[in-house]
Parts: sequence; C-alpha cells; structure tokens
Amino acid sequence: MTADPNDVAPAVASLDTIVSLSKRRGFVFPSSEIYGGINAVWDYGPLGVELKRNVKDAWWRAMVQERDDIVGLDAGIIMHPQVWVTSGHVGSFSDPLVECETDHRRFRLDELPGTEGLSQTELLDSGIVARLGLRCPVDGGPLSAPRRFNLMFKTHMGPVEDDAAVVYLRPETAQGSYVNFKNVQQSTRKKLPFGIAQIGKSFRNEISPGNFVFRMREFEQMEMQYFVRPETAAQVFEEWLPRRWDWYTSYGVTPSRLRFREHAPDELAHYAKKAVDVEYRFPFGWKELEGIHNRGDFDLSRHAAASGENLEYFDPATQEHFIPYIVETAGGPDRAAFTFLIDAYREEEVRGETRVSLALHPALAPYKVAVLPLLKKRPEIVELCHRILADLKRDMLAVYDDTAAIGKLYRRQDEIGTPWCVTVDVDSLTDGAVTVRDRDSMTQERIPVEGVKRAILDRLEAARP
Ligand code: GAP
Repeated sequence: MTADPNDVAPAVASLDTIVSLSKRRGFVFPSSEIYGGINAVWDYGPLGVELKRNVKDAWWRAMVQERDDIVGLDAGIIMHPQVWVTSGHVGSFSDPLVECETDHRRFRLDELPGTEGLSQTELLDSGIVARLGLRCPVDGGPLSAPRRFNLMFKTHMGPVEDDAAVVYLRPETAQGSYVNFKNVQQSTRKKLPFGIAQIGKSFRNEISPGNFVFRMREFEQMEMQYFVRPETAAQVFEEWLPRRWDWYTSYGVTPSRLRFREHAPDELAHYAKKAVDVEYRFPFGWKELEGIHNRGDFDLSRHAAASGENLEYFDPATQEHFIPYIVETAGGPDRAAFTFLIDAYREEEVRGETRVSLALHPALAPYKVAVLPLLKKRPEIVELCHRILADLKRDMLAVYDDTAAIGKLYRRQDEIGTPWCVTVDVDSLTDGAVTVRDRDSMTQERIPVEGVKRAILDRLEAARP
C-alpha cells in the first residue's frame, strides 16, 4: 500500500500545548476572562500583539510594498446595508443549523459525525436528520430539521432601533474594496491588472466557533482583490496559488504541512467561479488557512446594477469598456499567526532537560533580541546592558531580563521565539565585547559592543524572504 501524502503529522500533537503556552507567556488570553470569558473572542497579550502585527507587516510588505500593481485601503467596518443585500450576504451567507429539542443546543449540521461528504443541497434537505438518524451529540435528544442561519452580526445605526436603522458588521473586508473600485482606480490612475489590499476586523456569528483562534466571531482578515481583464482571470488565478503558498513557506511554515484543496462545485461560495484553499495540517486536521477565489464579475456587476453607478473600466489601449473580473486572495492574520506559532513549536532534550523553543522566523518573532546580564549584582554590567538595549530599541523590539540565572533566562527567550540573546559578563567590562547567542543552534559568538546592533540588523536582513 502506498503512503497517503496527506497523512502528515501535525507540528504539535495537542492544541492544549499551544493554548497553555499562549496563556502562560502572554500571546493570547480568553476575552473578558474575569467574567468567565465570552465564547469565540480572544485577546492578544503583549507577545501576541507583536506576533500578529509582524504577520500583518509581512503580508503588507509582500502584497503592497514590494509590488507596483497593488495599493492599500482601509474601509469602514459598517457599510451601507444595501452593500450586503447586493453582495448576496443577506440572502445566502449562512450555515445549516440544527437545534436539539431537549437542551436547545445548536450545531452546524455539517460538523456532526455522520454528515461527512454531504453536499450543500443535502445539508439543507428537510428530511436529512431523520434519514441519517442524527441525534444531539451532547444529550442524545432529537434534532430539528436544518435551517439556514445567517452569520452576519446586526446592529442599529443612530438613536432609533427600528428596521430602517439596521446595519451589519462586515463579515469580509472584500466588499469595501469593491465599492471603492472606482475611487481607487481614478485616484491612482492604475491600469488593469491591479489590486486593492486590506487588513481589518471582520465579524461572523459562527454557529460552532472553536479550536482557539482558528474560528472566532471577531477576527481580522488580510484580503487582496485583483482586478483583471475577464479573459485573463483563469490564468491569473493559477498564478496567485504558488505566490500565496510561497509566502507561508518563506516565513517558515513546513511545506509538507500545507496542501491545496479545490472546492467542489456545490461547495463554492455564492460569488465564486473557482476556489482553492491553502490548507494547513492543524492538530485538529487539515483546515483552510487561506482561500483563493475567482469571483468573476459577480461583485462589480451586482454593485453597478444595484447602485446605478457605472463600474466599468475603460481600457485606453483597446478602447473597450467592460466590468473587470476579480481574483481574490483571502486570508487572516489570526489564522496565519496561529499557524506560524504551531509550526514553530519545538521540544528537544538538552542535557537531560526538555528545551521548548519557538523557531519563529526572525521577522515574525515578537522580540528580536534580549539583553541579559550574567551578574545582575554588578551595576556596571547592568548599566552596559541598558545602554545596549536603548540603542537596539531605536530599531527593533528588544527586552531586558535579570530575574533568573542565565540558563533560565535563555530558556525563557527560547520559549517565546527570541532569535538572539546578548549577554553582558564581567569580561565585557574590560574587553568591550559581549556574547550573542543564537536561539536555534544555541551557538555563541563574541562581538564588540559597538557592533551589536549592526550584527542583529544584518541577521534580520539576511533572514528576510
Ligand atoms: N472574502 C472572502 C472570504 O471572506 P473566507 O474563506 O470566508 O473568504 C477568508 O475567509 C479568511 O478569513 C479565512 O481563510 C481565514 O483566514 C479568515 N477567517 C474567516 N473566518 C474566520 C473566523 N471565524 N475566525 C478567524 N479567521 C477567519
């Protein structure tokens, strides 16, 4: 029998390892924890906020800064409610929901055991629960027939809470780019093909959130909408697949834990002509990390028809007017940061002890460097540490720690992914040199104090994808 290429072990066997590291070291905390928490919302702690910011910066760098054909946008979270009617979200952004008739718990039908492989049509068939003999997974009670549950959060705009004041919290950033297509194109004079990139919060009232920050109700997206001539869309779509794959591997994700998965025709979102997910082997299975979609002219045609605004592009070379097609890359910094964290996790035996380290790419690591005194009782050593630290902090996030012996200080920095530690010892006071220790190889190098910042900056630059 040949081995299944998809049968790949996850980087960590249990999600609990990552959840507990995140809490203990300040990457992610449960939201409103002192009140018992709130389901599917998480808060990023001092290290998590840095990791996520670095992920967003790396994406922006690859998608906007280093390209001539993509520009940024930051649209509002609350948009005109008609946007969501036109986009199809009011009508069809829903999951099949079943409810237990005894304990009233609600479940996504397609996540219940026994529903694997069912088509979207079957999942909304009113007789499906009875036909498969499905029961509540918690108390075994009878389940209702499936109904569509819309995932958009609603609120009211202004002081009157009537139907006319209903607005939605956006469930995707994409629509902000579509309704601004003309503004962006005219203000930048971009010619096709060109893209609009956005990073920002989105909200979905997920029926079954979970797996830590994998599926939340409040999360961020990093989405890019690429506007192209219709006849080139299929080819452009194929070109974005390896680019997005390479972005993850260039920041350290193990290639064998990634795969592409094309959506079956009846699985496609309402807007998509073709969709391929980049999936990652999480501890809870292969799941979507990012989606790449050929959305055709669905969005711009619908917005043009509903708003009465002409959203055609005029091609000066061919003198044609037409609605561009859109190829979308849709990922999220929460899911990406989570993936980088999981994939970087290492445990190894060092001199009879377990060393935990996060082999994060230096560009993603929260702290780039830690400055540590070998003897905190010597004021000259501490003073030199602070001088080095102040200089480093002008260019990068650096930290000082003297709350334990040096071996323990190294372990603490290893566990949060700090790529380099600079240690000041007694000799430093006479020879003007310090030790730079590498997180992954644990090798140490002696360099002059004045050269510390340059050495770290050079290493960061050398690691850049
Ligand atoms: N504009 C298309 C779109 O929104 P999607 O596949 O529904 O496509 C894109 O979402 C990305 O947004 C996902 O690949 C994921 O990274 C992130 N995302 C979506 N829902 C999420 C959730 N509930 N929690 C965390 N991230 C989520």
